[in-house]
Amino acid sequence: MFDFEFYNPVRVIFGAGKVELAGQKAAELGDKALLVSYKKLGPLAELLERVKTLLGEAGVEVVEFFAFQENPAIETAAEGVALAKKQGCDLIVAVGGGSVMDGGKAIAAGACYEGDLWNMVNSRHDDSGADIAPPTEALPLMTIPTLPATGSEMNMCAVVSNKALGEKSYIWAECIFPAISILDPQLTTSLPAFQSACAAADAISHVLEIYINSREDTPLQNTWQEGCVRTTIENIAKVLDDPNDIEARGNLMWTATCAINGWAWPGDGWTPMHQIGHVLTSRHGVNHGSSLTVLMPHWMRYNKLRRPHTYKTFATAVMGVDSAGKSDEQIIDEGIDRFQAFLDTIGVPTSLGQVGITEQDLQPILDGAVKVSFGADGNLKCNPIMTKDDVMNVLKAAL
Ligand SMILES: [Fe+2]
Repeated sequence: MFDFEFYNPVRVIFGAGKVELAGQKAAELGDKALLVSYKKLGPLAELLERVKTLLGEAGVEVVEFFAFQENPAIETAAEGVALAKKQGCDLIVAVGGGSVMDGGKAIAAGACYEGDLWNMVNSRHDDSGADIAPPTEALPLMTIPTLPATGSEMNMCAVVSNKALGEKSYIWAECIFPAISILDPQLTTSLPAFQSACAAADAISHVLEIYINSREDTPLQNTWQEGCVRTTIENIAKVLDDPNDIEARGNLMWTATCAINGWAWPGDGWTPMHQIGHVLTSRHGVNHGSSLTVLMPHWMRYNKLRRPHTYKTFATAVMGVDSAGKSDEQIIDEGIDRFQAFLDTIGVPTSLGQVGITEQDLQPILDGAVKVSFGADGNLKCNPIMTKDDVMNVLKAAL
């Protein structure tokens, strides 16, 4: 074992229909809420109306801020901060997917922050040289997630983009933990198949990244990670078969939350594929889930013999490979092949070519990753260590 400190103060209220508690719970946190959601509400419009009604019935005044788009922009958050200040809001309620929850976090912190909001971002792809100062105070935040993927509802991270700089990175600060998150799987039954699949892949990546890229002396965490991946694989299949399977929707939702609320992460937790994925998103418009699935199988094949025990256990404990009569490498290969076949089955891309990226795009992608996630030693932060050449080899294999 190794030393660590753990802290997670989020009150989770889980269950089908629990969104009906939105007003009561919001009233525990404030009197006037900035209600945050998407620019295009689409099927969420009805839910937003219901939440507004519930808040009103509980005596919580509502100011609407429906402005976020996929990959929430710090510029949009600044508009939300200005509105929250002007209206005297003392609470943020974010209803939507990761983009909305992360945007809500940026507003919650931004409302208490002096100076350029981009300075709240902890690590950068840009060379602006601006002073980085993570926020230390925020308005209370309640989230009501409608997409089981990012886990933002129970963590202290907000991924935000800077449109002017074309960059995407994150705010990491204790003050942006939500105070309350209402996890109602009923709200996810209208998600289309592709979005459901991308969400499942994202949740898997949050534990798989740690499993294959971080410490090996974490037996409880590793078992937890394996369980999260298995549970997601089993339940996304059920959901794609029957989108109204509320039991399976609930299992996906809670697993996505638990994959990235810290329980799988004590100690070092490198997420190099996410760092490269953020470059794919900010520069090539690849959606978040796909930005991970196009790398995962190729990353695993490249590293399989540099970390054979991990990949062999993954094959047998997660992908159900029968090891009888097979060499270790055969077992490992079968595990990775099965995993890629699973990704293909749920309809997400598994190569860079499928998302329109060609060989000439690879060097700028690598350069972007180097800026944000390579250490002073010139190598990518992960275990096993990856040099620039290693990463380029993975990118080429992923074409
Ligand atoms: Fe993610």
